[in-house]
Parts: sequence; structure tokens; C-alpha cells
Amino acid sequence: MSIRTFELANKNGIAMTVTNYGCAIISLRVPGKDGKTRDIVLGLDNAEDYASKAHPYFGSICGRVANRVGNARFTLDGKEYNLEANDGPHHLHGGLVGFDKKLWTVEEVAANKLVFSLVSPDGDGGYPGKLVAYCIYQLTDDNILRIDYRAETDTKTVCNLTNHSYFNLEGHDSSNIYNHEMQIFADKYTPVDETLIPTGKLADVAGTPFDFRDVKLVGQDIDAAGGFDHNYVLREEGVAASVYSPVSGIRMTVKTNSPGMQFYSGNFIDGTVQGKGVTYQKHSGFCLETQFFPDAVNKPEFASAVVTADCPQEFYTKFKFEW
Ligand code: GLA
Repeated sequence: MSIRTFELANKNGIAMTVTNYGCAIISLRVPGKDGKTRDIVLGLDNAEDYASKAHPYFGSICGRVANRVGNARFTLDGKEYNLEANDGPHHLHGGLVGFDKKLWTVEEVAANKLVFSLVSPDGDGGYPGKLVAYCIYQLTDDNILRIDYRAETDTKTVCNLTNHSYFNLEGHDSSNIYNHEMQIFADKYTPVDETLIPTGKLADVAGTPFDFRDVKLVGQDIDAAGGFDHNYVLREEGVAASVYSPVSGIRMTVKTNSPGMQFYSGNFIDGTVQGKGVTYQKHSGFCLETQFFPDAVNKPEFASAVVTADCPQEFYTKFKFEW
């Protein structure tokens, strides 16, 4: 197996570049209302760089469990499992060599569809069970980037797959995301402690900087929020978020059947990562990571990220673009 690069395109001028290393979306070019096509995701120069350079999960698939597992451990059927701690005492995005740092098998290549698979052996990163993950990217002619996630296991285990693309609808080389008009269709979020582990409560967004029920500029309350890095409790299957850039005229609508969505405003990007001719800075891009709630494996009150041999996990995320 080797690191490969693929191009998907649709008939309306959207095109994307993807590598099988971490299933990373390297670029996503979308036309704007001014007729100019912009690359709207942060990324590195080429596929090889994803394997050799440190980067904050640009465009990659995170797993086996995306987001944080508190104190890097969990208990399943009375047995404790210890995971790699790579975020202080916690486990983040699958540990030191998460799914973003694996070379995925290319199962299918078509003009508008890519199918990747990954075998995660029993004990991988500390997780029980041999898990087979699938990531399917489709770029449709109705301007939807659809991502399907599937996880099959031979033994009861936990799994939470997401894509970690950083978007900037003004273009990846634009300075920041403050002028994006954001709407998140959630009444509640999961408050966190100072190490970003949820307290277990579901709190109302009303009266907090996290309230995006009505359209609000990302920059308006970003300081009051201490930067966004929070999981939203989605109301129901369907529209999770809608984001618009008055600069490009591009609107991105996110739909999913996942219970939660992490809104991350690129708080940890610090001017040390360069890609595609740009030095990325704090708040250069935002992520809308559809997923189970963080630390769900330790929070019985959260929707369960457990997957069994009888019941594979299946989730989708659709990013629809209009201009
Ligand atoms: C996720 C986390 C953030 C951060 C980024 C990667 O979005 O929630 O806290 O770890 O990944 O930098």
C-alpha cells in the first residue's frame, strides 16, 4: 500500500482532493457568488506531508474514538481498558496513532465516490476487538459532500468516527472566521471542565455565548466563550448547522444522524503550521465535527458509542454547498 491522492469533481464546479493517508480531505474548491472558486478547507501541500508533518487533524478522519476519553480509560462489561494519554491525562482522537495517522485501503474509486477501509486490530490504541472502519466520500451533482461512516467489530467495543475538516468559506487563505454567519440547531450543549471533559450535564445554550439558535457572527462571542470547542446536543436527525460567508456568498449546511456536533474554532492553531502557501493562525478555520458526545464512553447518561458484532455503526454527514 502506498500514499495516494484522488480527485472528485461534480458538474457544477466543486472539486476535492483526498488522500488515503488518514482519509484526509486536502482541498475542497467551491465556486462563490462572485464566480471565483475558492479552496475552503485548511490543509497541507500534498498527501505525503500528512504522513511526515505535524498538523492538527486537518481534514482527517478521527478514530477509533474521536474527541476525548477522560483519564484515557473506560470500563466495558466490568473490564477496564487503558488507552494512550495524548492530551494531558486524557485520550484524544484515538491516541498517538489514531485513524488520522493510518494508511487506509482503497476499496473503490469512481468519478464522484471514494470508499476507504481500515482494519484496526484487537488492542489497537488500547481498544478491545478487531474493528473494520469504512469511510465513503461522495460528491454529488446537487452539491453535497456526503461522508458515510461504518464500523464493524468482532467483539463489543466503542467507536466514534468523525471528519476533522477546518472550513473557511472566505477561502483557506483568509485571515479568520469571525465574519461567518453561523446557526447551530441545538438548544443544549455539553459544558466541560478546564481540561475539556464534559461534566455530564446538558445545559441550555440560552443566555450563554454558545447560543447559535439564531444566526450570529462567529466572532461576536468567541472571546466570551474562550474560543469555541464545544459539543452541541443536536435536536433531531436533519439539519445540524448552517454557515454563510457574505464575502464568498457560499452557504454550507450540515446534516447528520449523529447525536452531537463539536464546534471547534481552531483555538489551538498557533502559526506553526503551514500548508498550501499559507501560515495558519488561531481561528483560521472552524470544524463542525458530527459525533457522539465527548467522553460518552464514561458517561452513561450520554448516547452510547458502544458497537457490537451484531449491530454495526452507521452514520452520515452531508455538507451541502450553495452560492
Ligand atoms: C478537536 C478538539 C480540540 C482540539 C482539536 C485538535 O476539535 O475538540 O480541542 O484538540 O480537535 O487540535
